Amino acid sequence: MHIILLGPPGCGKGTQAKKIMEQQNIPQISTGDILRAAVRQQTPLGVEAKGFMDKGELVPDELVVRIVEERLREQDCQKGFILDGFPRTVAQAEALDQTGTVIDVAVNFEVPDDEILKRLSGRRTCRSCSAMYHVPFSPPQVAGICDKCQGELYQRDDDKEETIKNRLAVYNRQTEPLIQWYAEKNKLRSIRGLGSIDDIYIQICDVLNNL
Ligand code: AP5
Ligand code: MG
Ligand code: ZN
Repeated sequence: MHIILLGPPGCGKGTQAKKIMEQQNIPQISTGDILRAAVRQQTPLGVEAKGFMDKGELVPDELVVRIVEERLREQDCQKGFILDGFPRTVAQAEALDQTGTVIDVAVNFEVPDDEILKRLSGRRTCRSCSAMYHVPFSPPQVAGICDKCQGELYQRDDDKEETIKNRLAVYNRQTEPLIQWYAEKNKLRSIRGLGSIDDIYIQICDVLNNL
């Protein structure tokens, strides 16, 4: 199964990717997580990406495409994968096509902007396993500590209101055209990204079971 999760920042791509990964036993490939790890480790990629990420701008296509090409060649991707946050531009989608990868479905999450702001301002992420929480929508059992691995929870640098607004503008300008792009290829399935995390997951299972 080759799945793309498409949608604005904070729509729930990462949250749902983790559920699909556990259920289907295929890896989640989050370009955001890979880039944040590179920033943390101060690799050349991380040093180059940081400025873009802090402003809520997209990292240049060629850098991100290279990351994904390399990742898709790894053994665990042979049985399938979930792309979370990639592609994000038409150029990235074209580059993905050129790898010869056939996509089964692009699941598009529809979530209004006011909900996005609420979700991102309350988000907490685990430093060790990148599990996602939300104060108050889905808090951890112990404040500040990951339920799954006891790691430390932190607030992402780009989850400040001004940066969130720019990320939304960037999404509308650069990523939204992909909705049309995948619709034309008859790969698009849109779901309503509002409601409980479990309700949304049920909608995704419906989509995957009816491919
Ligand atoms: P990235 O990390 O991909 O961020 P994003 O797309 O902005 O999306 P988020 O991770 O913020 O949100 P999400 O949809 O995963 O939502 P989540 O599940 O966390 O990218 C970050 C940056 O990296 C970019 O700005 C760019 O600079 C760079 N980058 C990454 N990929 C790139 C690419 N391909 N090309 C170029 N640059 C790239 O949920 C959000 C919150 O809501 C959580 O707290 C969660 O607990 C909560 N929540 C989830 N579902 C629900 C629900 N149903 N009800 C209530 N709360 C919920
Ligand atoms: Mg995410
Ligand atoms: Zn954790």
